[in-house]
Amino acid sequence: MSSSPRPAILVARAVFPEILELLRQHFEVEDNQADTVFSKQELARRLQGKAGAFTTGGDRVDAEVLAANPQLRIVANMAVGYNNFDIPAFNAAGVWATNTPDVLTESTADFGFALMMATARRMAESEHFLRRGEWTKWAYDMFAGSDVHGSTLGILGMGRIGQAIARRGHHGFGMKVVYHNRSRLPAETEASVGATWVDKATLLAQADHLVLVLPYTPENHHCIAAAEIAQMKPTATLTNIARGGIVDDAALAEALRERRIAAAGLDVFEGEPALNPALLSVPNVVLTPHIASATVATRRAMARLAADNLIAVLGAPGQGGQPLTPLNAGQFTPRA
Ligand code: GLV
Repeated sequence: MSSSPRPAILVARAVFPEILELLRQHFEVEDNQADTVFSKQELARRLQGKAGAFTTGGDRVDAEVLAANPQLRIVANMAVGYNNFDIPAFNAAGVWATNTPDVLTESTADFGFALMMATARRMAESEHFLRRGEWTKWAYDMFAGSDVHGSTLGILGMGRIGQAIARRGHHGFGMKVVYHNRSRLPAETEASVGATWVDKATLLAQADHLVLVLPYTPENHHCIAAAEIAQMKPTATLTNIARGGIVDDAALAEALRERRIAAAGLDVFEGEPALNPALLSVPNVVLTPHIASATVATRRAMARLAADNLIAVLGAPGQGGQPLTPLNAGQFTPRA
């Protein structure tokens, strides 16, 4: 056994017991298996004396939290999205930030596709009807939705998950796939996922089913609002598996109520877990509680990757290793 004290870490939310066990082999661990959601102030307080933190997407880590904890060396987010991190503040403080890319790509793409299909084929709306006991007869137009196969899939944001959704649409469902992204994919990647780059206005106008898979940044706030929805086909669907705040939920609820688009599938919400109540009162929306990556295997892999990032940086005393999936490599000088 090493004589040097083991680094202390905080696991900010409940996690798989075997992941805690793994972390306990390397660190003094303060856990939160009660799964209390800490305020930013409480998080900063609990980080006192900790060299590392295991966080989830709801834990805000900014300059204030980092300044209050000069001993902190790494914060490992169990999520691919990291809008809860202020990366320039991490760089200024000399702290590693990590996320969990790749391990969730396929499961998240499965979910995005499923939510888009459920939205197009009105699955939630028709299930609610059935549960209410209103199903008394067959009708030629009962819950008639729109086809997925052979239609035009629009993807806004074309990173790993967007590409995985494009592959499903192109190869599995014979869809025409158009996408918009700040940077265009190399021609061979476009060919392999079967997608064509278009400008945003063309994407909005052409998509029968528009799926949002872009990161949430200040520039992307409300990038789908009333004006963008107005450019969509009245028969189109909109699916958001990216982040709340990308869509103006109030404008969307109004557009759904007025049938200016056919339907929406939402896994993420502005201000979640609170929801804009207007979304609850429109029938043509499928609502899920931010579960796109939630398969048991994928959540385990995400937790394991976050743990491995902590171990890589803090686990070998004096060796100061690099994390496996850094967000800010080369952008700062790590704290000693
Ligand atoms: C989930 O939303 C994630 O970013 O992993």
